[in-house]
Amino acid sequence: MRTIRLGLIGAGGIAQAHCRAVSEVEGLEVVAISDIVPERAEKTAADFSIPAVYTDYNKMLAQADIDAVTVCTPTALHAAPTITALKAGKHVLCEKPMEATLDSAAEMVRTAHATGRILMVALKLRFSPQVITARRVVEEGTLGDLYYAECVADRRRGNPGGSFVRKDTAGFGAAADIGVYALDTALYIMGHPKPVSVAAITSNYLSKHNPAVLGAWNPDVTNTEVEDFGVAWVRFENGIRMVFKTSWCMHLDSLGGTFFLGTKAGLRIGVSEVKGPEEGVWVYRDEFGTLTNTNALFLRPLQGIELFKRENAAFADAVREGKPSPIDPDGMLLTNVIIQGVIDSAAAGGREVEVTVPKTV
Ligand SMILES: NC(=O)c1ccc[n+]([C@@H]2O[C@H](COP(=O)([O-])OP(=O)(O)OC[C@H]3O[C@@H](n4cnc5c(N)ncnc54)[C@H](O)[C@@H]3O)[C@@H](O)[C@H]2O)c1
Repeated sequence: MRTIRLGLIGAGGIAQAHCRAVSEVEGLEVVAISDIVPERAEKTAADFSIPAVYTDYNKMLAQADIDAVTVCTPTALHAAPTITALKAGKHVLCEKPMEATLDSAAEMVRTAHATGRILMVALKLRFSPQVITARRVVEEGTLGDLYYAECVADRRRGNPGGSFVRKDTAGFGAAADIGVYALDTALYIMGHPKPVSVAAITSNYLSKHNPAVLGAWNPDVTNTEVEDFGVAWVRFENGIRMVFKTSWCMHLDSLGGTFFLGTKAGLRIGVSEVKGPEEGVWVYRDEFGTLTNTNALFLRPLQGIELFKRENAAFADAVREGKPSPIDPDGMLLTNVIIQGVIDSAAAGGREVEVTVPKTV
């Protein structure tokens, strides 16, 4: 099996998870790493025996013998390295969410199409047995025609702080950071319907006024510039309506669960950041002249690192075999369309705004 040689761009928190996962994936190797903070790149290189260290990813792209890069920079800094790497002929695995603005995300997808390189956004939940099973239930027609869904990604007091709360590095807050998991999971399960409008409210009151409490991820997140809470009503071209709820900070244990209603059956899912009653998949139907629930058994929740391994293995396999991206970037772009709609509608006082899917070819 040909070994795919990777360069990492960004050596912060999530780069460590990628390095660990890659070290356990056959036929994949990190051979170069770059970070504008040299000590971070050097420390990660020492920890994972990465031979080449750079402070400028342009140099890495020009000098290192690599097939692909993994982009692990903060969200608002995904487009520049991704586009540069694609144009340099490298395949790209880019951390989620795709980018901070819809325009930048669309440019990334356009560049992937123009260069014929793989662009895969690292949505690790696509590799979870729960999400794969739920998609299969819908694909087989079990739910009939879908007409309504709710998707939720919430934390009671889990503002990640750091580069996640600054407009210049993150762009958006909870709606993009964890909300993207709920949105992508819902869109994937529903077969990527095209969004046409969004009405939303957002807030960051709690982060900005939050007294330190035991149990919060960070003692002080009063510097939060992005939203820590958001709720949206999304309309799709095919008639489906969806409520999307997300929170880093709230005075509540849960915003509810993620579910899909169809003409023949309903489905609930719970997986990692995407909230359900618990981890699993349940289908609710009328059968045998009565009401039945089907509980998908044996869907062992996978730990984070296992999902990173599967994601990296799928990326390496696509690069090696010349397959399309395991996660279609045009499908991913729809999450950016909705997130942009959330921000635009919230800025317009919660009024419904039309959203448009940008052309990428
Ligand atoms: N998949 C997941 O489970 C998961 C979890 C956490 C974060 N993320 C995503 O990963 C991305 C990074 O998050 P993080 O927690 O690692 O952030 P971080 O702030 O810890 O690390 C980002 C790193 O990028 C570096 N950087 C910035 N500009 C650069 C440039 N031009 N060239 C090279 N390096 C540069 C910074 O110096 C920093 O070391 C975000 O988009 C985030 O949403 C994904």
